[in-house]
Amino acid sequence: MQIENLIYLDYNATTPCDPAVVEAMLPWFYQNPGNAASRSHPFGWKAREAVDQARTQVAALLDAEESEIVFTSGATESNNLALKGVFEMYGRKGKHIITVKTEHKAVLDAADRIEKRGGEVTYLDVDKNGLINLEELNNAIRPDTILVSVMWANNETGVIQPITEIGEICDKHGTLFFCDATQAVGKIPVNPRKAGVHLLACSAHKMYGPKGVGALYVSRRAPRVKVTAQLDGGGHENDMRSGTLNVPGIVGFGKAAEIAGQKMEPEFKRLQKLRDKLESTLTRSLEEVFVNGQIAPRLAHVSNITFRFVEAEGLMNTFNQEIAVSTGSACSSATLEPSHVLNAMGLTDDQARSTIRFSLGRFTTEKDIDRVIEAVNAGVRKLRELSPVWELFKDGVDVDAINH
Ligand SMILES: Cc1ncc(COP(=O)(O)O)c(C=O)c1O
Repeated sequence: MQIENLIYLDYNATTPCDPAVVEAMLPWFYQNPGNAASRSHPFGWKAREAVDQARTQVAALLDAEESEIVFTSGATESNNLALKGVFEMYGRKGKHIITVKTEHKAVLDAADRIEKRGGEVTYLDVDKNGLINLEELNNAIRPDTILVSVMWANNETGVIQPITEIGEICDKHGTLFFCDATQAVGKIPVNPRKAGVHLLACSAHKMYGPKGVGALYVSRRAPRVKVTAQLDGGGHENDMRSGTLNVPGIVGFGKAAEIAGQKMEPEFKRLQKLRDKLESTLTRSLEEVFVNGQIAPRLAHVSNITFRFVEAEGLMNTFNQEIAVSTGSACSSATLEPSHVLNAMGLTDDQARSTIRFSLGRFTTEKDIDRVIEAVNAGVRKLRELSPVWELFKDGVDVDAINH
């Protein structure tokens, strides 16, 4: 995918809609404009059928039942509904929630809100590879813990948490387990029931579907989970999410889920090769370059690379707007705050600010990667030539000691 010669390597921020998704959505804007909740005429019935089909497609990708899929406006809403909805529904049982310092802001800020409403939140650390310590999790669970919230794969690094093991620990303690699987669904097999996950968030626009539509999986059996609705209204989606259903968006989501199921395995292999080429070439040809989370289990298409003594923003400027990458998650890259994910993994602010996230996807070619390697190589060399700190470092000065 290219916009006027621009290489897009920011698939974790959002993915383009697959053309087949757009095609599936089109009739639902004008030819079939019905409200899926209208019971009295064919426009409504047809819209309902289309939503039902999409629900089946999304459920199939998660190996779930249709009744376990609650459509939302995206993963931000799904995360909020899971955390706040569980907190309200199970508040009498306890007020303690456990999450992780590297979660997406939509989880961390929802947890922060819960603290303001009288809840207590424990934030687990991660090691230098971005992984939580299972023993720490086990020890953090208390009799009043009602929810453990751990993401499947990190949006900045692609690091995959040991979800099944976390599920077993939650099961042992009888605690609900919510997983923000926004970056994992459609990229690797995600089966919440098998993994012991009771609630799971995903989003269409991270898997070649449209923006503004997502889902929350809510287990209906063993255990039957309920969340308190966060929007009051007509009681759609089993009383868990009111609001007229976004029929074109949901149809697109369904199609995207179907395609993802078919392409997941070959795409994983293809992108892993390209990602490995990017990483191995850059780490071989440049000094002081580190891949964050490299030895942890990772998504195949994500690469988070620190180029020491180079400001990531400056490096991106050397690309002459020909390469779209990101310095962190899309939500925090508007601020110049260093990434909370990289900080939690032990990187200093300087190192975090010297880091770029490359996220590849369905339309990335080997030629794109070759061009990116060339541009990064040239950019890093150019900036280091101009950098007095780099010169000091090369002269053997302990620059970290000077900085701190
Ligand atoms: C891990 C994760 N969770 C949640 C979200 C929010 O998703 P949405 O854009 O659908 O609200 C994102 C997207 O940036 C994400 O990467």
